Order: sequence, then C-alpha cells, then structure tokens
Amino acid sequence: MGIEPEEYYDDLGHEEWDRSEELFVHSVEHKNTFPYLEEHLPEEGHILDAGGAAGRYTVWLAEKGYEVTLVDISEEQLKIAEEKLHEKGLLDKVEIKKGDIRDLEYEDEAFDAVLCLGGPLSHVIDDEEREEAASELVRVVKKESPVFVSVMGFYGCLMLHVLQGWSFVWEIEDFYKRQKYDEKHREKAGEEDPGFANTYFFKSSQLRNLLENNGLEVEKLVGLENVVSVMEHHTNKDVTEIESDYKEQLRKVASTIRDDKASPDLSNHILAIGWKK
Ligand SMILES: C[S@@+](CC[C@H](N)C(=O)[O-])C[C@H]1O[C@@H](n2cnc3c(N)ncnc32)[C@H](O)[C@@H]1O
Repeated sequence: MGIEPEEYYDDLGHEEWDRSEELFVHSVEHKNTFPYLEEHLPEEGHILDAGGAAGRYTVWLAEKGYEVTLVDISEEQLKIAEEKLHEKGLLDKVEIKKGDIRDLEYEDEAFDAVLCLGGPLSHVIDDEEREEAASELVRVVKKESPVFVSVMGFYGCLMLHVLQGWSFVWEIEDFYKRQKYDEKHREKAGEEDPGFANTYFFKSSQLRNLLENNGLEVEKLVGLENVVSVMEHHTNKDVTEIESDYKEQLRKVASTIRDDKASPDLSNHILAIGWKK
C-alpha cells in the first residue's frame, strides 16, 4: 500500500500550509505559480481548486472575488482550510468538499477554470487512474477555459536525492524504470527512505502527453523552481541559513528562467497551463 496521500496529508496537518512560509524553495513554487493564474484566469467565475489542501490558492482566489469550490481527499486539510477562510472572513465565497480527483462529483463543464496544483495528480500512482484523474479535471471545465496542473518532476526530485543521499540514488534502476515512490520502492530503499506519500514523478513530456490525450491544448510548461530546486537541501534544515538578499537573488533566478525550455525538467514542480478544446 505504501503511504496513502489521505493518511499522509491528514498527519501533516498545518505543515502543508506552513511550507510556503517556512521553506524557501516551496515559497518559490507558489510565488512562481501566481503570475500564470493572474495572466490566464477569467476575470470572474466559479473556480475548482482540486487537491487544494489547506487552501493556499483558494484563499487567494476568494480574496480576488471568485466563487471557489475546494476539494481534497484529506479531511484534516479541509478542516484547516475552513479555519483559514473563517479567519479571513471568506467562508461564504467557498464551498469546501471532501472529494477525489479520480472521480469528481460535478457536472460536465461546471467550472470557468480548474486548478490542480502542487502535485495532487502526482499522488495518483496507478497509471490508469492517473488518466482518469486527468480526464476528470478536463471534463468539469468549460470549453476554451483554462486548466492549471502542477506535478512533481522526475529529474528535479532525483537531483534533490543526489544532494541528500536519499533513496532514489540507492534504488536508481527501479526509480528510473517506474518513476514511482511507493511501497515497492520503500521496501527496497530501507533506511535511506525519507518517508513520503505515494507519488509518481513526471518528465515534462509525460505531463504534456497526459493532458493532451485527455482533451487539453497545452499552451505552456513552466519549471516553477528550476535551478533553485536544489536549495531545498539547505532550506529544509533552517531557512535562516541563507542571507535574505541572496534569497531575493535566487527568487529572481527562478522567475527569470522559469519559461526556459529546460526549466520544467530541472524542477521539483512542473506547471502546465492548458485550454479545453
Ligand atoms: C502538496 S498538497 C498541494 C496543495 C495545494 N494545491 C498547493 O499547491 O499548495 C497535495 C494535496 O493533494 C491532495 N490529494 C492527493 N491525492 C488526491 C486525490 N486523489 N484527490 C484529491 N486530492 C488529493 C492531498 O490530500 C494534498 O492535500
């Protein structure tokens, strides 16, 4: 079974929301996502935040005046989202629902845009189920409307393991062949295993193919952290290890080259922006 995402994110609790504030590379992931939302979202409408966890994007959308439906498989994350939205006086703009991206309960073309950010699609490790999830995300958006998907990148994560001496290094043949972190991988990796939810890691071409096979015209792939991905090595230990002016310079590096063709495959997270045909 490995670690099911529902169990992992229930146990993670507030750390999922906090990662954007406390972990530098995660803040780069989020900061480099917002400009694409700003550029491509419709001016108003009903947005689905699928796998939205504690509501990092839902809060932002609600503050901008969108009607939002937040769906996640983890009840604990949804509880935290409810608290955050309540604190900010935004609860009336958001519907919060437990749900699974593999089988969304909404009608065809119910939404003006769909977000599935930060890796929910990576946590669907069965190949057929991942196709179903992609097809569901596209089914529920209106024609000619945008879908934003970000997933965990194969090469970016492998580089991180090279720096940390983690399990993908010790089990490279298995990881290269299957691109999965799951029970089979954990059993082989033994003590070198960092302990994470079941995950499939994408090459950028695979993300493009998955979305295009399911009815999206992919306009762009973005490498959200690109070369800055490797800094997770430092910042996971202590954010204060990096001087703040150097951090600012690193943010600039990541935002300057995020659209470069090589960036998606260098990144911990790859963002795809596509339009329903
Ligand atoms: C890393 S968090 C990303 C949260 C947020 N979208 C962001 O980018 O900050 C991944 C979320 O995906 C959710 N998730 C994983 N598998 C899912 C599924 N099949 N259906 C719905 N949510 C899922 C997890 O519970 C978790 O809250």
